[in-house]
Amino acid sequence: MARRPPPPAFDIVAALRDKRDGREHSPAVIERLVQALMAGEVRDYQMSAWLMAAWLRGLTETETLALTRAMLHSGDVLRLESVRRPKVDKHSTGGVGDKLSVCLAPLVAAAGAAVPMISGRGLGHTGGTLDKLESITGFDVRLSAQRFEQIVREVGVCLIGQTPRLAPADAKLYALRDVTATVENVPLIVASILSKKLAEGIDALVLDVKCGGGAFMRRPAEARALARALVRVGTEAGKTVSALVTDMDAPIGLTIGNALELREAIEVLAGGGPADTVELTLELGAEMLRVAGVERSRAAARAQLERLRQGGAGLEVLARMVRAQGGDVRQIERPALLPRTRSKVPVLAERAGVVTAIDARALGLLAVRLGAGRRRAEDTVDHAVGLELAVTLGARVARGQPLAWLHQRRRGAEEVDAARAAFRLERRAPAAAPGRVLERLSAR
Ligand code: URA
Repeated sequence: MARRPPPPAFDIVAALRDKRDGREHSPAVIERLVQALMAGEVRDYQMSAWLMAAWLRGLTETETLALTRAMLHSGDVLRLESVRRPKVDKHSTGGVGDKLSVCLAPLVAAAGAAVPMISGRGLGHTGGTLDKLESITGFDVRLSAQRFEQIVREVGVCLIGQTPRLAPADAKLYALRDVTATVENVPLIVASILSKKLAEGIDALVLDVKCGGGAFMRRPAEARALARALVRVGTEAGKTVSALVTDMDAPIGLTIGNALELREAIEVLAGGGPADTVELTLELGAEMLRVAGVERSRAAARAQLERLRQGGAGLEVLARMVRAQGGDVRQIERPALLPRTRSKVPVLAERAGVVTAIDARALGLLAVRLGAGRRRAEDTVDHAVGLELAVTLGARVARGQPLAWLHQRRRGAEEVDAARAAFRLERRAPAAAPGRVLERLSAR
């Protein structure tokens, strides 16, 4: 039998010229570009030039979809065929105090969906779900695809880290974007996020696009543009996708730092927790149940999640997941057993007033300084350290009253000052805040 001739070499210079001059690539050209990159035919410097041309000239929706598909198929795509329930996940663009995945995933599983969640680590001022879960002794986020599927099937939820086999083109492209000033670009972000999420074998996806001082997208127009593009391209890729744009000016809930945030998530799953963490959990969870087809209306889904939360069903699922992933389940039953510092240092108000702003970015960066996050990807984190807020927006405080506590290993006046500076105190109360959910977008 005659051998098939090898495909013709990819003409990267022609592709670069096209993008430089603002011409649209065909899906076939984008597919070949990604294949050639992964095969080493296209060099990093050529791909970097393409990324900058794409950043400057933009990518159409057809190109973005083609890039998403090419990146998705650069590695394994999980099918999770043995999981019979509808499979749904949530992705957040990254926030401060964002422990929502830990609250949501078990609760949504308790309501009847399957949640195969592949999460990330903290980087910059934002925290990562894997770091929070690794506060639990023995908790393993590096499971084989077979074990991941088994736990999703048996428990309804499993939370692991990205593997080199899922969407490897994203890891390669992201590393180039990171050093060529091409991260902040909607089509490139869309392809990056969706290629990883679609590799999980999900039917439906909810995106939590954060907006504000503590977020990647600081302005509402930018967040909205990203949310709209994610929904459109995800829908074109054949999934049921919706997005919530949520406020990320002040930290979510009352804790920042890994074990502290895990404790708060446990409180939420036990029926308590701060009002905004509960609100976001119910809103995003209801949207997950809706897009997964488990509940028809958001109101019914919210009511169902609230019943489960009050009854502790989500907490039971969390405990089962922790056991299945090798973690010490006693730390879920008794959160006081989670890592903690010996003492906490109060941050006292220097004058009386009403709290009108809490700078999430500043507190996120401070948490990193205390050791809760990473400056570089290879740094290790200290699970015990972080911040606990004593007040929320709109609170009236007296001089000398605590604004927060620092859970730190060694006392430092500088850190206390930095924390204090993140709270704005004014004489008058601000107008009532509109709530955390700023906008909802869905294809239908
Ligand atoms: N998060 C991602 O996963 N990719 C991006 O490009 C930006 C944020």
